[in-house]
Amino acid sequence: MKSTIGEVKHHVGQSVTIGCWLNKKRSSGKIQFLQLRDGSGYIQGVVVKSEVSEEVWEAASKLTQESSLYITGTVKEDTRSKGGFELDVTGVEIIQVTEEYPITPKEHGVDFLMDNRHLWIRSPRQRAVLVIRAEIIKAVQQFFNDRGFHLVDPPILTPSSCEGTTNLFHTKYFDEDAFLTQSGQLYMEAAAMALGRVYSFGPTFRAEKSKTRRHLIEFWMIEPEMAFVDHAENLEVQEQFVSHIVQTVLANCKAELETLERDTSKLEKIKGSFPRITYDEAVDYLQKNGHEFAWGEDFGAPHETAIAAQYETPVFITHWPTEIKAFYMKPDPSRPEVVLCADMIAPEGYGEIIGGSQRIDDPELMAQRFTEHELSQEAYQWYLDLRKYGTVPHSGFGLGLERTVAWICGLDHVRETIPFPRLLYRLYP
Ligand code: 4AD
Ligand code: MG
Repeated sequence: MKSTIGEVKHHVGQSVTIGCWLNKKRSSGKIQFLQLRDGSGYIQGVVVKSEVSEEVWEAASKLTQESSLYITGTVKEDTRSKGGFELDVTGVEIIQVTEEYPITPKEHGVDFLMDNRHLWIRSPRQRAVLVIRAEIIKAVQQFFNDRGFHLVDPPILTPSSCEGTTNLFHTKYFDEDAFLTQSGQLYMEAAAMALGRVYSFGPTFRAEKSKTRRHLIEFWMIEPEMAFVDHAENLEVQEQFVSHIVQTVLANCKAELETLERDTSKLEKIKGSFPRITYDEAVDYLQKNGHEFAWGEDFGAPHETAIAAQYETPVFITHWPTEIKAFYMKPDPSRPEVVLCADMIAPEGYGEIIGGSQRIDDPELMAQRFTEHELSQEAYQWYLDLRKYGTVPHSGFGLGLERTVAWICGLDHVRETIPFPRLLYRLYP
C-alpha cells in the first residue's frame, strides 16, 4: 500500500511503498542504510544484501544524493531512530539517479545557497523553517477565527500609500500610476466599519534600500482591525495573539524546533501579559546606559535590542512622538505630542514584530493631518468618508510574519524565513 513517511506510524508491521528522495547513504558492504525524505518526514531504509534480490541491491547501490525513487518495505518500530520507525527494504524502484547535486553536506557560502534557493529548501533546516512558518499561519487563522474576526482581503494594487511615500513600488495601471501595497490597513479600517472585527493576511511591498537582517522587499503581514476597541484593548489582543502563536508552535513543531536546535525554554516563557514601557521611559533607559539618543528620534536595531534585553517576553513601547509616526495615529488626548500606539519588540534581539495604534476617529483632526502630511484629499476621499459616516473609536495592528518566523526559529536573517525571499538586489530564483 502507498504511504508517506509521516503516515508510517499507522502501518507498523505492514508493507508500504513510499515516493521519496535519498538524503544520505551509508554502506557496510552487506547492509546499506538509506536516509530517505519525502517532505512529510525522514526515515531510514535498511537494505540487507542477503535478504533482497540482486536487482534491489544493485538499485540501492546506484542511489546518489537527491535521487528519486519508490521504496517498498516493512515498517518497523525503532525507538533509537529520530522518527521512531525504520523500513526493512524489499523493493527499490528508481525514478531518476541524480548526478552532481550542487548542495552537498559540506559548507556553502550564502550567495551560493541563495542562488540555489529552489534546491536549498529541501535541506532539513530549511524544511523545518517552512513547516514552522505554515504552522504559524495556521495558528494566526485559528486565533482570529475562534474570536469572531472575519478574514478580508485588501487590494495589492493601490492608488496611494499607507506608510509614507519613500519606499513605494511604482507600476503603471494602464494609463494611471499605481503602487504595490505597503499595508492593507486603510482598507481594513473600511472593512472594520462593515464587519466589526476583521483581519487580513497577505503580501506587502516596501522598496527599502536597507540591507539588514530584518528587511525584506516583499513580506507577509497579518493586519487585524477592530471597531470600538481602544489602545489598551488593542495591546491585550496582541499579547494573547503572540502567546497563542508561540505556544501552538511549541506544541505542534517539536521535531522541527529540535532540527533548528532552538532553545525552547526561552519560548516557553512567552505567555501571559507583556510589559509596557513608554517611549519616554525607553529613551531614558538608553540615555542612562551609554547610548547617544535624543527624544524624537526613531530607534535603530541596536536600541531595540538594548531595550528588549531587559525582558524575557516581548515588550511594548507605547506613546511615540506624533512627529515620527504615521498620519492616522490618534494623539493621546492628555498629551497630543505623543500618539496612542505601540511597537512590540521581540526578545533575543529580533526587533520590532508588530506596529499598531488606535486610529484617529475625529473628522476635523484627520482633515488637518492630511494638510500637514500633504496628502491628496482626492486620492483618499473614500478614507475620509469613514470619518464622515458613523465614525467610531477603532484600533489595529500589523504583525510581520517573517520577523516572527525568524524569532521563533532562532534565525539570524529573515532571508531563510520565506520560501523565495525578495531582497535588495535579489529577484532570483
Ligand atoms: O510598523 P509597520 O510599518 O506598520 C504598518 O504597516 C501598519 N499599517 C500596520 C497596521 O497597523 N495595520 O509594519 C508592521 C510590521 C512590522 O512591525 C514588521 O514586523 C513588519 O511589519 N515589517 C517588515 N518585515 C520585513 N521586512 C520589512 N521591510 C518590513 N517592514 C515592516
Ligand atoms: Mg513599524
